[in-house]
Amino acid sequence: MSGHEPTLLQRPLLPRRQWLRSMGGMLAATAGARAHSAAPTTIRLSHVVASDTPKGLALERFRTLVEARSQGRIQVQIFPQGQLYGDHDEMQALQLGAVDMLAPSLSKFGPIGFPEFELFDLPFLFDNVDTVRRLTRGEVGHRLLQGLQRQRLLGLGFFDNGFKHMSGNRPLLEPRDFAGLRMRIQASRVIAQQMRAWGAWPVTLPFSETRLALETGVVDGTENPVSNFWTQGMQAVQHHLSLTAHGYLGYAVVTHQSFWHSLPPAARALVQSALDDALVFANEIADAHNTRALAALRSSGDIAIHSPERRHIDKLKAAAQPVYTDLQQRIGSAWLDAVYAALRKAT
Ligand code: LMR
Repeated sequence: MSGHEPTLLQRPLLPRRQWLRSMGGMLAATAGARAHSAAPTTIRLSHVVASDTPKGLALERFRTLVEARSQGRIQVQIFPQGQLYGDHDEMQALQLGAVDMLAPSLSKFGPIGFPEFELFDLPFLFDNVDTVRRLTRGEVGHRLLQGLQRQRLLGLGFFDNGFKHMSGNRPLLEPRDFAGLRMRIQASRVIAQQMRAWGAWPVTLPFSETRLALETGVVDGTENPVSNFWTQGMQAVQHHLSLTAHGYLGYAVVTHQSFWHSLPPAARALVQSALDDALVFANEIADAHNTRALAALRSSGDIAIHSPERRHIDKLKAAAQPVYTDLQQRIGSAWLDAVYAALRKAT
């Protein structure tokens, strides 16, 4: 033995689960010390999309605000593009304390025990982001975030990306166009049923694997807001984009109670206020960012862009009705009633 303890980076790479477990123990020990040490506090924030997206830019703004307002005493380390954790393990990493904050899509809370979040995935539920905010800024949104405490998670806020469109190697405007296609989706039962209702096969894949799966033909198409589509270069492997605006994609910023409570109260207040400001910024830039991405797609000439007519949308809506009934059976009518009441309420 050479006598000195190999550093974390000198140790042989452990399989991720073993590494997570060892990290869990180590970080619990550091958590207690965090309150007293003069060393800067570091918030590790992982996400799965590119930095040049509404989410990437919002979280960068959050980092800038936290570091400026704390004079560097609190640092935010951002790991984009699934560099650190991806759709399949980010929630577990948060539970184990190997990462401190995430901003997953609202469609990814169902599989970890919060099916009520799939409300946001109901096709054609929202006319625009203002109607979404009647939920996220109201009682429904508050109760959804409160519910995360069931798993010792803390919901710190919601923000938008925008509306999803369909991509494929043919126009996807009405149910018959989807017949037999394998469509990549997020891990949401509502979205899976939406695809089945339109005649397609839903294939759940991590976001980071989507472009390759389209390129290799594992799947035929997918759905996403244009900013995700453009920043992943999906136009190179898809020939048609159909502007269905059939569903909403938004995010919730979450942390773990043990991390949050390891921060001194003043630091929590600073982080929360910086996040609140960053999420206002996020909602201000999201639509413009998607509009710019659509313009870039148009001028690239790489992909044909189709706008569905009213009759197409009516057919998609009619075919998707069973998706609503199923979700109501799964989470109970109280949630749906609260959603309809909030949407009816004029601002
Ligand atoms: C997806 O998996 O398609 C999206 O949730 C990615 C994201 O976070 O925008």
